[in-house]
Amino acid sequence: MRRKLIAGNWKMNGLKEEGLKLAKAVAEKCRGNLSFDVLICPPMNLLGLIGNQEHTNVLLGAQDVAETTKTAGAFTGDVSAEMVKDLGAACAIVGHSERRTLHHETNAVVCQKAQNAIQAGLTAVICIGETEAERDNNQALEVVARQIKESVPTNATAENCVIAYEPVWAIGTGKTPTTNDVAQMHAAIRHELATLLGSQTADNMRILYGGSVKPTNAKELLAVENVDGALIGGASLKIDDFWGIASTQL
Ligand code: 13P
Repeated sequence: MRRKLIAGNWKMNGLKEEGLKLAKAVAEKCRGNLSFDVLICPPMNLLGLIGNQEHTNVLLGAQDVAETTKTAGAFTGDVSAEMVKDLGAACAIVGHSERRTLHHETNAVVCQKAQNAIQAGLTAVICIGETEAERDNNQALEVVARQIKESVPTNATAENCVIAYEPVWAIGTGKTPTTNDVAQMHAAIRHELATLLGSQTADNMRILYGGSVKPTNAKELLAVENVDGALIGGASLKIDDFWGIASTQL
């Protein structure tokens, strides 16, 4: 049985005061026993501050890790997976489409970052997803299959790896795929994972959906077969919206 994961990607948002307030509000909502996992991925400036808060049920994640296999050294501006772990993170997002596009990260780079995260004892949240042009050209399944083959390390397990399917055209646009399209893609992703990692690992690995998830569409999207949670951008920045999504799973 795969436990659902409701994850917030704050992207480059949050100064100290508002970031800590939001993290506290999420922790407050997540008091007690929940039947699903909650993860917040604040920007690096807040990671240590939030990691130092008293123990909460909420998992903490980074939005990226360095590409180098070295855990320290002359890599100006980079933060290693080991450093992120040291700040209290349990997870790290890698291969988000914004990094693939704006920082030209290839599947090979994403795979290396995922490996670094795993090596440091983090769970890698590996993002994949097609662009609008690729979908219009009927290449979505092919593109995503290739991203899996090339960005998921072969030592990935259901414990150290989560896949996030985020169609690029759905991110921050208010557009979402139909539930049929989501079902088809998530089934295809699980099939590809089985080819790469074996069916047992694939069956247990969580596959999140991301892209314009809101309180109003969360219940429907999260009920689709093979959707094991959500990776939420904009709506993770407001406690009412984030909890509005998470609470559909109560
Ligand atoms: P939105 O929820 O703002 O569409 O962003 C999704 C996303 O990119 C999460 O990583």
